[in-house]
Amino acid sequence: MSQGPSLSKRVQSLKPSPTLATDAKAKALKAQGVDIVNLSAGEPDFDTPAHIKEAAKEAIDQGFTRYTPVGGILELKEAIAAMLKNDYGLEYETGQIMVSTGGKQVLYNLAQAMLDPGDEVIIPAPYWVSYPPIVELAGGVPVILETDPANDFSISLERLSGLIGPKTKAIILNSPSNPTGAVYDRETVRRVGELACEKGIYIITDDIYDKIRFDGESPYNCASLVEAAKDLCLIVNGVSKTYAMTGWRIGYLAGPESVVKACTKIQSQSTSNPNSIAQKAALAALTGPQDCIQEMKKAFQERARAFVDGLLEIDGIKCPRPSGAFYCFPDMSAFFGRKTPEGNAIEGSLDLCDYLLDEAKVASIPGIAFGDDRCVRFSFATDMATLNEGLKRIRSALNKLA
Ligand SMILES: Cc1ncc(COP(=O)(O)O)c(C=O)c1O
Repeated sequence: MSQGPSLSKRVQSLKPSPTLATDAKAKALKAQGVDIVNLSAGEPDFDTPAHIKEAAKEAIDQGFTRYTPVGGILELKEAIAAMLKNDYGLEYETGQIMVSTGGKQVLYNLAQAMLDPGDEVIIPAPYWVSYPPIVELAGGVPVILETDPANDFSISLERLSGLIGPKTKAIILNSPSNPTGAVYDRETVRRVGELACEKGIYIITDDIYDKIRFDGESPYNCASLVEAAKDLCLIVNGVSKTYAMTGWRIGYLAGPESVVKACTKIQSQSTSNPNSIAQKAALAALTGPQDCIQEMKKAFQERARAFVDGLLEIDGIKCPRPSGAFYCFPDMSAFFGRKTPEGNAIEGSLDLCDYLLDEAKVASIPGIAFGDDRCVRFSFATDMATLNEGLKRIRSALNKLA
């Protein structure tokens, strides 16, 4: 067998997505017949609503199976513009909108279009696992802004201001947040918007969970709260989480035309248009009945309350209540330094999650993957019976630590 030349340094230093890896491990164990309680999923457990699937079938039957414009079909861009107007009161022309293969590709395009080697992007921790690698793949440097679970993971404006320097290009805001479920209040978002204007940096606002909020408030972001920030604001969103469409791979960007054009150029030389059939499905999602969102949201909210109640009954767990999305991110550092029945020390979130998988057959994601080693991410994108079983097993496994 002959060996080819070495692969790039870029890919050698790239870590695979830990959330996808854990989910794959849990699914593989389940396939082997192991009774796994999977609390690691990053996607709704609901099926894509029927009218959306019908639109896709119709698209196939009508032969809508060819290349589309690189940045998406006009009707979908118009529907996105209408949604932004309706939800946020924001006006965007279709030339200020691009459709991509998921919100993840939007973020990837943005980093490629925006960053030169050494340029910095400020990322509040805990952060979604893919932000730092996406920045690094573009030669950029992630600069981490620490927050505290005891403070509901809120952003300190003073700390943020201290991190902005001549190389700072952008800050990423994600609210509701993966992994914490925390929502930034209006005042914080407004002040970040004003600071970005003062310093002349972009705000990448990842609003992918904006419709899964438990407080009944209508969504907001820097562009909707600070008029002057609109030209600096890059809105990232998509249909994956809101409409249970993770596999369809449709996300979108809205922002200044120059940035949208640059991102579309990157997309034209990488993936071209997002899937034509999925675009028609996304169009049906955005323009069709919206009651499916309420049903899912209600379920997530009930599960969040019950699951976090259960966690808080366990001595040593501290957990801020999530205000949105379908995750919670308890501080479990009280268990660090203890030993498993086999005598292995639990030294951090990786050890704890490994222990929970081996001992309790519960899959979760170590907080270190999100930039906070004190915590563990549990997803409640699963039914209540599974969540209750998970709680029982977690409690019993933690009780065995000495
Ligand atoms: C915070 C956040 N942003 C973006 C995405 C990307 O979603 P998609 O590429 O499915 O649109 C995810 C998915 O897990 C996420 O959690």
